[in-house]
Formats: sequence, C-alpha cells, structure tokens
Amino acid sequence: MIRAASRDDLDAIMLIERRSFPTDAWSAEMMAAELVSLHTRYLVDVEAVADGELVVGYGGVRALRGSSDADIQTIALDAAHRGSGRGRALLRALLAQAAERGAREVFLEVRADNPVAEGLYRAEGFVEIGRRAGYYQPDDVDAVVMRREFSAHAEHVLRTDSRIPQESDGSAPDAHIDPENGSTHDA
Ligand SMILES: CC(C)(COP(=O)(O)OP(=O)(O)OC[C@H]1O[C@@H](n2cnc3c(N)ncnc32)[C@H](O)[C@@H]1OP(=O)(O)O)[C@@H](O)C(=O)NCCC(=O)NCCS
Repeated sequence: MIRAASRDDLDAIMLIERRSFPTDAWSAEMMAAELVSLHTRYLVDVEAVADGELVVGYGGVRALRGSSDADIQTIALDAAHRGSGRGRALLRALLAQAAERGAREVFLEVRADNPVAEGLYRAEGFVEIGRRAGYYQPDDVDAVVMRREFSAHAEHVLRTDSRIPQESDGSAPDAHIDPENGSTHDA
C-alpha cells in the first residue's frame, strides 16, 4: 500500500536509502528536510506486519504549486521487494502528485550505470534529453537527464481522479493512494 510519508518515516526511509545508495546516500538531515518541505511530496510503500507496518520503499517529487515543471527527487525499494512492479506503482503515484500540483512536465536524473531504473523511466514515458558528465561523485558516473510530458488528457485525468489525496482537502498524511488508478499511463 502506498501512502503519504511523514517525518515519522525518516528512520525507515534512511535504512533503505543507505542500503540502496551505499556510496552517495543522502544524509538524514537532508532527507528530513525533504520530508517536511512544502515543495515536495514523499510517499512510502508499506506492508502490514504483526506489530504495525513495514516501510519497503519510498519516493519523492519536488513540485512547486503554480510551476509547470516538477522533479522526481528519489525512488527506492528495499532489495527484497524489487522486480515485482512496486517501483512502477510508486513512480506512477509520484507522477500523480506532480500532476495534482499542476506540473505539465517532470524531470529526473538517473545514473548512467543504472539500467534498471532507466528502463523503468523509459517504460513510463520519460525520454533522455541530455547527460551531465561526472554528476555522481565520488563514483564519477554520468547522469542521464530525462523528461516526461503530461498530455492534456493525462493531466485532466490525473487532476480530477478523486482517489488522489488532495492537499487542499485536508487529507491526512496517511491518506491512502491507489497507484493503479491514481495516475495514468499514457506512455
Ligand atoms: C529502480 C527501482 C525503484 C525499480 O523498482 P522495481 O520495483 O524493482 O521495478 P518494477 O518491478 O516496478 O519494474 C519496472 C520496470 O523496471 C525495469 N526493471 C525492473 N527490474 C529490472 C531488472 N532486473 N533488469 C532490467 N530492468 C528491470 C523494467 O523496465 C521494468 O518493467 P517491466 O517489468 O515491464 O519489464 C528499484 O529497482 C530500486 O529501488 N533500485 C535501487 C535504487 C535505485 O536505483 N533507485 C533509482 C534511482 S534513480
């Protein structure tokens, strides 16, 4: 199940962050700032366990209200939960959040040595628009810069789908998101 993330999810997110990005993980301070920023929306993918829930993935999008563009900031699933469609569902839910804030196009950077993530982005309609040499340090790996445009139809569907939690309607941070229906897939 995908739900909105809160500051309380920081420790669980950082566990996955450090495992997923061993050489260039964000600091806890940076992640905490992302989680509470007015300009971002972070989501977590959780599973029910005996004593509550377990965060198995997270992702964030930076989307300023009134701006026509947005950025996928990060996305990661814990290793045991990869390869079964959850990353795709999380990405679609992030795109729905961006559309809800009015974005018409979404940008991201992905390591040039990460074919799994790049494959996911291409499959979801992102196209390469450039490269940034040595963007990822200390590994000295290039970034592939990608963009996805929302069609007018897709944006309409995304913005009017009542299952997407709207920030303006007082949705609680733990509002549930149906990734299958909370976004369109016009790729
Ligand atoms: C990238 C990531 C989020 C994708 O999530 P996932 O749940 O593993 O991916 P999904 O099962 O949803 O697969 C979606 C697409 O990703 C690609 N993909 C997934 N696993 C793949 C693999 N082992 N090899 C190649 N492509 C793969 C495919 O395009 C796939 O689409 P398909 O199933 O139609 O072929 C996840 O693998 C992850 O957390 N990786 C480590 C952190 C990371 O690299 N984050 C991205 C930073 S930019």
